[in-house]
Amino acid sequence: MSRSLRVGVLTGGGDCPGLNAVIRAVTKSLILEHNAEVLGFEDGFLGLIERRMRPLSYGDVSGILTRGGTILGTHNKANPFSYYKRGGADVSAQVLKYAETLGLDALVAIGGDGTMSIAHRLQQMGLNVVGVPKTIDNDLVGTDRTFGFDTAVSIVVEAIDRLHTTAQSHQRVMIVETMGRYAGWIALYAGVAGGADVILIPEFEYEIDEVVQIIRERESYGRSFTIIVIAEGAKPRGGELVVRDVIEESPDPLRLGGVGRQLELQLRERVKSEVRTTILGHVQRGGTPSAYDRNLATVFGTYAAAMVADGSFGRMAALQENRITSVPLELVAGKTRKVPRDAPMVAAALAVGTSFGVRELSHRFVGTEETAAIS
Ligand code: F6P
Repeated sequence: MSRSLRVGVLTGGGDCPGLNAVIRAVTKSLILEHNAEVLGFEDGFLGLIERRMRPLSYGDVSGILTRGGTILGTHNKANPFSYYKRGGADVSAQVLKYAETLGLDALVAIGGDGTMSIAHRLQQMGLNVVGVPKTIDNDLVGTDRTFGFDTAVSIVVEAIDRLHTTAQSHQRVMIVETMGRYAGWIALYAGVAGGADVILIPEFEYEIDEVVQIIRERESYGRSFTIIVIAEGAKPRGGELVVRDVIEESPDPLRLGGVGRQLELQLRERVKSEVRTTILGHVQRGGTPSAYDRNLATVFGTYAAAMVADGSFGRMAALQENRITSVPLELVAGKTRKVPRDAPMVAAALAVGTSFGVRELSHRFVGTEETAAIS
């Protein structure tokens, strides 16, 4: 009798709500539907490099659907092609040897673009890999959605709602800084859902004069509070990213943060209202996943298990136009899906008078009347 499939699973890069829901879905469906054995590697690719893993039974993944974080642990510096504990040595051959020793038939790698890049290279070396797209940033190429995004947006919206009431009481300008280094999906979706007046994202370099103008106009017709949502990677026209930290061994060494405070200081000199900034940071990545993310994680996880059983390797599960499909890892590796100018959510934001801090894109209020675009 042929032996059952032996499948590894790991979570790589930054964590996000829904990782446990994917681990549960992959493991349960591999066991129930495909009679497979599942091995969980600890701390992302570090587990493969340092030979740390544990078998996952059906019972091991029961009761984790709603839990934030990842029961396997994750790591944002673990890279078999550049092992940070050995001065960037390439230990990929040892990783493949370990996989062979374990009799691994396939590896399910749950992660973002960094994880997919590593997964792609390991696939090219002969390891059978299936990817599952994770990130609160929703910026993976090839899929309309990543799990974790919906939860992060809900967290930001709750913060905006709360800041709205205190902004109104004190007639203040409230700046909310979200995550999103190179893509502004979180700021865009949360800004629209939270009724922000201004949304500043990396894709559209903003003009400080335009932001000042919006606040002054609001002040002039009696709405002396303004809600501004700014992604951490937003830049003023011709400006630079606000870098908080550089983590050399990380696949993307830049850690951003502080752009909201920078904007606050610029605005303070030019508007009457008081200005305050809230940086949401890692709060956006923590806690229990939303119902949408639990469902997406479950669908992605079970689909990834089916891909393993079908031998559909070198591909990542994806959501495209509301259908679950898969895309080649090489299409995803090392790329970022940015907010396009013609995104329906951008059009919707503009159509309700939200500003992106860019004069050519703005609809403007004149007095108390809204007019069509004036440039
Ligand atoms: O990619 C996910 C993300 O949360 C980004 O939005 C953020 O810039 C970055 O990770 C933060 O990374 P770290 O957890 O290493 O601080």
